Amino acid sequence: MFTLSHLSDIHLSPMPRARRRELFGKRALGYVNWHRGRKLVHRRDILDVLTRDIIERKPDHIAVTGDLVNLGLPEEFVRAAEWLHHLGTPDRVTAIPGNHDAYVRLHPDHGTKLWQPYMQSNDAGEALIRTPITGFPFIRRFGDIALVALSSAIPTMPFIAAGRLGSAQRALLGLALEELGRQDLFRVILIHHPPVSGLSNWRRGLRDRRAFTKILKEHGAELVLHGHNHEQTLVEVETMTGPACVVGVPSASEAVAGRIPAARYNDYRIERVKGGWACEMLGRAVSDVGGRVCESERRLLRER
Ligand SMILES: [Fe+2]
Repeated sequence: MFTLSHLSDIHLSPMPRARRRELFGKRALGYVNWHRGRKLVHRRDILDVLTRDIIERKPDHIAVTGDLVNLGLPEEFVRAAEWLHHLGTPDRVTAIPGNHDAYVRLHPDHGTKLWQPYMQSNDAGEALIRTPITGFPFIRRFGDIALVALSSAIPTMPFIAAGRLGSAQRALLGLALEELGRQDLFRVILIHHPPVSGLSNWRRGLRDRRAFTKILKEHGAELVLHGHNHEQTLVEVETMTGPACVVGVPSASEAVAGRIPAARYNDYRIERVKGGWACEMLGRAVSDVGGRVCESERRLLRER
C-alpha cells in the first residue's frame, strides 16, 4: 500500500513587507486585496495545524499543487522554500506551481527556482520519460506509482487567474501517459487548475482544458489531483483505460468561516489488487478554528 497526501493553495502568510517599487500593476491590486480580506482567510496557524498532522501521519509521499505564495514577492518564495523544507525532504515531497506562483514575471533565481529540488523528476521517473528543457512535465516514480507533474501557471492580467498547459506540454503529457500505462503503473497527474469543464469560469479556468480532457480520455490516468478552486470536488472521466478520478482539494490554510470550506488535505491509499487498483481517499480537515484535524470523509474511489 502506498499513501499519497495531497494539499494545495497554501497562500503562505504572513505576507512579508513589500518595498514600494515592488508594488506595481497586478501586485498593487493583490496587495490591497490581501490586506482587505485575504489575510484573514489564509492563516498560518491553520496551515501549521494541518502540516503537523500530515508530518505525524508519515505518508509515503506528499504532493503540493501550487499557490504556495500570494503576490510573487521574492521573499515569499524564500519563505515557501523553508515551508517545503519543513514539510519534508525533496524525495518525499513533490511541488508544482499555481497561478499565484507566476503572479508577475520574475527572474527565475528569485522565484520557483528556489523550489527546484521539489519540482524535478527522480531517477526512476527520468529513466522512463526524460524531462524536457522547459521542466514540465516531469515524472516521479515510486515503485508502481508514477506522478506526472504539470505546470498550468502563466502570468496573466489583473483580475484573471486562468492557466494554460500549452501544446508542447500537452503533447509530452500524452506520450508520458501512454508509456506509463504500458508499464502498468498507477498514474497520478498533478495540475494546479481544474482540468475539466464545468469547474471554473473563463477568468479562472484552464484555457486548454478541452484538449487536456481529450488526452486524458485517449491515454488514461488513474487519478488527477488539482487545487485552485479551494473546494472539494470529484469528477469521474471515462478513459480508454478505465475511469479517471479528478479530485480538487480545499485550500490548506483557510479559516473555517461562513461558506468557506475548512482547510483540508486528502490522503490516497493506493494498492494493486487482482485485475487492477484499489484507491481509497481519506479527507482530513481542520474541525474548528486553529483546532484539531479530524477525518472528514472516507471514500473508495476504485476497487479494481
Ligand atoms: Fe490558484
